[in-house]
Amino acid sequence: MFTHANNTNFTPNQITFLFVISFILNDVEVNTDLPPGMTLLDFIRYERRLTGTKIGCREGDCGACTVLVGELQNNELTYRSVTSCLMPIGNASGKHIVSIEGINFSGLNPVQQAMSDHGATQCGFCTPGFVMSLTGFCMQDKNTDVIASIDGNICRCTGYKSIERAAHSIDEKFKERRAENVLDYAVKSGFIPQYFTTIKDRLTLLQKGSESAKKIPVENSVYVGGGTDLYVQKHEEMVHSDSDFLTGISSLKGIKQENNRCILGASTTVTDLIESSIIRKAFPDFLKYSKLVSSTPIRNMATLGGNFVNASPIGDFTIFFLALEAKIKLKGQNTLREIPLEDFYLGYKKLDKLPGEIVETISFELPDEKTFFNFEKVSKRTNLDIASANSAIKLSVSNNTISKATISAGGVGPIPMVLVKTSAFLAGKIINEKNIDLACAVVDEDISPISDARGSDAYKRFLLKQLIRAHFITLFPNLQPQKFNIAYEEH
Ligand code: FES
Ligand code: FES
Repeated sequence: MFTHANNTNFTPNQITFLFVISFILNDVEVNTDLPPGMTLLDFIRYERRLTGTKIGCREGDCGACTVLVGELQNNELTYRSVTSCLMPIGNASGKHIVSIEGINFSGLNPVQQAMSDHGATQCGFCTPGFVMSLTGFCMQDKNTDVIASIDGNICRCTGYKSIERAAHSIDEKFKERRAENVLDYAVKSGFIPQYFTTIKDRLTLLQKGSESAKKIPVENSVYVGGGTDLYVQKHEEMVHSDSDFLTGISSLKGIKQENNRCILGASTTVTDLIESSIIRKAFPDFLKYSKLVSSTPIRNMATLGGNFVNASPIGDFTIFFLALEAKIKLKGQNTLREIPLEDFYLGYKKLDKLPGEIVETISFELPDEKTFFNFEKVSKRTNLDIASANSAIKLSVSNNTISKATISAGGVGPIPMVLVKTSAFLAGKIINEKNIDLACAVVDEDISPISDARGSDAYKRFLLKQLIRAHFITLFPNLQPQKFNIAYEEH
């Protein structure tokens, strides 16, 4: 037996794996038969001795382990920041992984220089993570927010103002990038080294020979999407699990519209949703909703399929798609069936999913001009936190009257749920404060919250009713909040 420095134990007979994983780490091609479940963080630090990438929480919260992942899709190379502590090397197959060492020049690059100029580093433990997130920002051709790009990075000693000043100065330096190919510009202006210009061709070659990316899932495997929950819950176990890595399967990717339905591959990430013109058109407030969900690196990794199968009673995107009456396609070795997402949840963490089945697609009807949709979430912190309760609503409305309502809610029962009785009550009702209060009285019949660390049963009941009122106030600004009959009762 040998032991990794982070106490990950391997016995020799465990080190037998079926396929070699190939990817590019900085400027070097890697072919490894190490356990595909090993985290990228451990691989980088303990196998390659690239110790600039730091270990903090190992739960995706601190950003000390941030690296960039370059992926070639439709002949386009895009880079995203990820937390390497939650990414198995199986998910690195066919990709370009960039650690802090991979952006080194003989001197400081403009991001590092800005951090230094603005006194944005003290002990330096968090600094490589911030530098990677900010470098990732400089490699985006989208009009993104520089401060949002570091929302997954925590600093314990510098104070955020100097880091923010460094970030703004980088944004200023990089403004003209929108005018040309952003990667060429980043190389030309010294943000990333020259070897980045060779990566697209090298990945094309690598992907041609990469079998693991096309591996078909087999029964009894652990199916891994983005890994952002599995690697928090059971990191040690996952290293040696017989896993199938679904993010490499191209049929599970993509967002498309067919007539009035939107169809999403199960490996769609939250970032993919944010960047989709179909989603932005259907949900003009989508960016606002998505900012309530995790941090940029996690949004870059976590998949919708993973969110659904994880079956958390408060999974934010499960709640979002439940209100949309989404359907999911489940694919087995020789089977394919479609069911409403609502029917997928049988009990706490119990799914209508047979061994060997994976979620292949998610589809929903795109909202028309008579459809009103909203998502609300309350958590102890506004951002980067698990919901105490969350809810989404879809209403079909004409002449100020609801013809159909679907309200979903999380954190108020053992499963993410549709409030069937409350939704039915609202059908045919005029939208006014009185009817909304009456609907809130029906909510108690739909839910069964328990008292736990996130609040008492009574508090969660109250919270959900407030979220329902918030839906209506957001969607129908003419309503007068002071007319609601709000009463909090601790039982
Ligand atoms: Fe904290 Fe990875 S070590 S996010
Ligand atoms: Fe010490 Fe950020 S400089 S944690």
